[in-house]
Amino acid sequence: MTLVTVDDFEEAARARLSAMTYDYYRSGSDEEHTLRRNREAWARYAIWYRTLVDVGAPRVATTLLGAPVSSPLAIAPTAYHCLADPEGERATARAAAAAGVLYCASTLATTSLEDVAAAAPGAPRWFQLYVHRDRDFTARLVERAKSAGYGAVVVTCDTPVLGRRCADVRNAFGLPPGMTMANLVETLPPDLREGPGSELARFVAARHDPCFTWKDLDAIARAASPLPVVVKGLVRGDDARAALDHGAKAIWVSNHGGRQLDLAPSTADGLVEIASAVGGRAEVYVDGGVRSGTHALVALALGARAVFVGRPILWGLAAAGEAGVARVLALLLEELVRAMQLAGCPDLDAAKNDLVRRA
Ligand code: GLV
Repeated sequence: MTLVTVDDFEEAARARLSAMTYDYYRSGSDEEHTLRRNREAWARYAIWYRTLVDVGAPRVATTLLGAPVSSPLAIAPTAYHCLADPEGERATARAAAAAGVLYCASTLATTSLEDVAAAAPGAPRWFQLYVHRDRDFTARLVERAKSAGYGAVVVTCDTPVLGRRCADVRNAFGLPPGMTMANLVETLPPDLREGPGSELARFVAARHDPCFTWKDLDAIARAASPLPVVVKGLVRGDDARAALDHGAKAIWVSNHGGRQLDLAPSTADGLVEIASAVGGRAEVYVDGGVRSGTHALVALALGARAVFVGRPILWGLAAAGEAGVARVLALLLEELVRAMQLAGCPDLDAAKNDLVRRA
């Protein structure tokens, strides 16, 4: 079958993955309202296209916290890429580097952050950080990211505890023998693989810090310096302002792909609120439910400087390894450029908010 859309890549991935892995990647929390909301929200906007503009070659190159990238499309952190392909995060990193796309690697990778960096030296990359109860360990992760040449530390704030992904509980989801959370080897509980339900839920309950607050963010920002801290997982304007007051350099609107609090708002709605609260003081990014370049154009028009995709990358990786990630990135870029051409946007500045209105 010719794979024409991200959904086609999902079908191809599903055919190759175990049910347990497919469910883990696909699921949202509880009844999955927010998972659905994220995707549906982009289509609640109409794009009020302009005509008779020279759109022969739309300019999409930009910078993210100063780092040049080929377009505003970027790769969100997702866990456990070796479940999708034996090369795992290395394959993702190489495909991203070849495309000039920023890759935000996850704390929960199955490849160490040093090996991810070594797979694509010099490429733009950020490190996503979970704050652990063991603050020394958290600080060591930050130091490792600095030494390995990461360009920013992305602190995820929506995971004090893990959302309940029902399929993972039913499937007793866990990593197979021979695969591990490569960044966390020194802190893995010895009995992690024992017990019913999701292994990841047991890990988060044991190690994440549910008492992490804004004042702790100041300390992380100081420890990360000179690297900028990006705060990820916000939907509220007041939280975005607090993040900037506590040392964040950029705000990443996210509800963790609908995997944490079910009934959280869509990230499109969060983006509107946060872009207004931030008022141009900092870069604002978004992820969640973006399955096409047209969705990405709506996100740009609503105020996002970058649009991150998570699951589409996993579907590409599972469907065809590094080449699959490259194809998904190329597809999304082609769709974004076409949508800009059809909308009369010769550059990213033209993709601003009078372009879209609620449908
Ligand atoms: C990890 O961050 C997950 O959402 O499973």
